[in-house]
Amino acid sequence: MIMQRTVLSAIALAAAALVGSAIAAPINYKTPDETAAFRPGPNLEVVQGNCAACHSSDYIATQPPMKDKKAFWQAEVTKMIKVYGAPIAEGDVGKIVDYLAATY
Ligand code: HEC
Repeated sequence: MIMQRTVLSAIALAAAALVGSAIAAPINYKTPDETAAFRPGPNLEVVQGNCAACHSSDYIATQPPMKDKKAFWQAEVTKMIKVYGAPIAEGDVGKIVDYLAATY
């Protein structure tokens, strides 16, 4: 009687272990490639380094048509610095504005 119990509980334990390992089995899946990339252009690395920390390039690519691109992007970069606290070096602002005005 005691023997039977031991065997039964050993089977129960083994079954539990099997179920457990089935649940814990790793699932492999591939995430899609990044689709939001900055367009190529001069000073791309400066823009990537300064503008990609908080949000994707979608924020830049989805702006409405604008009359004065340079003034728009100058104001936008200034807003990122003053309002949102983006740590952008003074010397990089002109390069970023030039890139954005020429590329977007
Ligand atoms: C410190 C974080 C930070 C950095 C760095 C940053 N941004 Fe932003 N940006 C924000 C926030 C916050 C918003 C507003 C998000 C929202 O409204 O959902 C925003 C929004 C925007 C928008 C959408 C329009 C708007 O005015 O809200 C544009 C365009 C934009 N950022 C461009 C840039 C560019 C260009 C750079 C690099 C010069 C940059 N951002 C760097 C934080 C940042």
